[in-house]
Order: sequence, then structure tokens, then C-alpha cells
Amino acid sequence: MSALKILVIPGSLRTGSHNVRLAAAAAYEFAQAGADVTRISLGDFPLPIYDGDLQAKSGVPKNAVNLKRMIGAHHGVLLVTPEYNSSVPPLLKNTIDWITRVQDAHETRGQVFRQRPFALAAASQGRLGGTRALSALRLILSACHATVIPNQLALSFADQAYDEMERLRNPTDIEALKALVRQLIDVSQHMM
Ligand SMILES: Cc1cc2nc3c(=O)[nH]c(=O)nc-3n(C[C@H](O)[C@H](O)[C@H](O)COP(=O)(O)O)c2cc1C
Repeated sequence: MSALKILVIPGSLRTGSHNVRLAAAAAYEFAQAGADVTRISLGDFPLPIYDGDLQAKSGVPKNAVNLKRMIGAHHGVLLVTPEYNSSVPPLLKNTIDWITRVQDAHETRGQVFRQRPFALAAASQGRLGGTRALSALRLILSACHATVIPNQLALSFADQAYDEMERLRNPTDIEALKALVRQLIDVSQHMM
């Protein structure tokens, strides 16, 4: 069997982003577990705010098609989301919205969400660690009929969460991340 391919997508572009840091820590754990991991930046796939008139006039932007195909080339996906006003930031929501509009030949729309599992994590400087963004993102993905694994990580006080090697300090956070990684790998293998 070929190596299990995992895609890690942070939902922030910010320099020093806590979610990019968490995505990097997760990518390290996936690699340690033997997965072939790819971590991307949505900054490399800029998209306009979704507008039905724009889609009718110009079609779905190439970056949305490319992202959808990149997801389709992986067996499992981890989304790492900031929390904005108790929900998912526009960057991530807009990206998902565009991807749901992509329909490649011989596929039904949204097939890319149904054929592989998704895992969710969030990081915030606050005490709740982005828990409400995780709930919102889970709801969005369930509307896409995605399989979202039960394990997730809400990283609280994210500004103090890492040591000088960029590894998580708190044993509870480390165990939650490892459990998420193990479960996404297991479910991805079952869905291959
Ligand atoms: C518009 C906006 C709304 C925010 N709302 C929340 C919130 O509801 N809960 C929370 O924990 N943090 C909130 N924050 C703080 C973010 O968690 C913080 O900016 C975080 O660093 C963003 O993630 P990043 O570091 O990956 O860019 C908000 C930040 C912004 C800019």
C-alpha cells in the first residue's frame, strides 16, 4: 500500500499565526506517525469573496479547482482554524464555499468532501481555545456530508503553548494532538 497522504491546511495567513504554528506541530506528528504530510498556505491560493455573478461570468477560479484537486490527492485532511467572533474566519469559510462549487468531470459536486475524512483543530490566545470555531466548522463540513473525526484539539492560551523548539508544552495538548493524528490516520486508512 502506498504511503498515507495527509494534507494540513491552516486557516490563517498572519505572520506568527498560532494556527500556522499548530499546523506545523501537527504536521510533525503526522510525519512521526509515518504519514506523507503536506502543509500548505491558503496565501498560495488567493480567492475572491464568493459571488454567484462572478461564478456565472468567469466560472470557479483556478485556485479553487487546484485546492479541490489537492484535497482529492490526499487520503485525509486536517483543518486548523482561528476563531473570529465565535465562528470560522472568512478566509477558511470562503475557501470551503468555493471548493463546494467545483465539479470535475465524472464526479458529483462535493464528492471530495465525502471520500476522505477531515480532522479539526483550533488555536486561540483565549481560555476556550477556539472551541466555538470548531463547532461552527464541524457544522459547515457536515453540510458538505464530510466525515469529520470525533477527536479534535482546541489549543487554549496559544501564545504560551510552545517551547523554544516549537513543540507543545502541555501534556494534555500533546496527548490530544497525538490522539487526533492517530484517529485521522486510522479513519483515512479505512476510507482508502
Ligand atoms: C475579527 C476577530 C475576531 C476574533 N474573535 C475571537 C473569538 O471569538 N474567540 C477567540 O478566542 N479569539 C478571537 N479573536 C482572536 C484570535 O483568536 C487571534 O487573533 C488569533 O491569534 C488568530 O489566529 P492566528 O494567530 O492563527 O492568526 C478574534 C480576532 C479577530 C481579528
